[in-house]
Amino acid sequence: MINIAILASGEGTNALKLLEKAEYLDNICVKTLITDKENVGVLEIAKKYHIPTHTVLRNKLTQVEHEIEIIKLLNSYKVQWIFLAGYMRILSSGFIKRFYDIQIRKSRIINIHPSLLPAYKGLNAFKRAFKDNVQTSGITVHFVNDVLDGGEIIKQQAFHRKEEDTFKDFVTRGKKIEHSIYPEVLELLSKNQLKARMTHENRHNQ
Ligand code: GRF
Repeated sequence: MINIAILASGEGTNALKLLEKAEYLDNICVKTLITDKENVGVLEIAKKYHIPTHTVLRNKLTQVEHEIEIIKLLNSYKVQWIFLAGYMRILSSGFIKRFYDIQIRKSRIINIHPSLLPAYKGLNAFKRAFKDNVQTSGITVHFVNDVLDGGEIIKQQAFHRKEEDTFKDFVTRGKKIEHSIYPEVLELLSKNQLKARMTHENRHNQ
């Protein structure tokens, strides 16, 4: 069994797609969903799927204290992989190191980002790409490392902006892709293809 946790801060449409997919993957168990915000949509979604949820507010905690609370929870559920699904905090390198896997030489933390990385790293990627009138944008699923939105790319898919697209249409196009590729990556993990691919790449690069 592969134990995963989802970390999210918002609406949770990606978390929903991961939970839907996990129901069909026998060896994936979503142990918990953790959020740093109260009253967010993603909490309701997790409850519908009977996933234990935890809200760890930052409040007066330092980043380290906040992350330690989260790590304690992750350890208590024996979480092996973390899927970030709209988690709006940058993880410290200490946190990232805790999930380092020597076999794949990466941390077992995955993120989805609404751009064709390395373009538009950071916040409001949809908005910035739309404002820049890009004709082709996209979605990227990648490993998390110390560089913001800079970890190795696992999957990337482009979409074309139509002339008449409003910002809302543009986001809808992107989100549709998010909702198909993030579950695909979960499936890669369940079939051991993610680890296999990374291990192979590492051997190849030696
Ligand atoms: C998505 O656009 C994702 O790419 C980004 O945060 C957003 C989360 O949306 N990292 P949702 O809460 O999953 O709907």
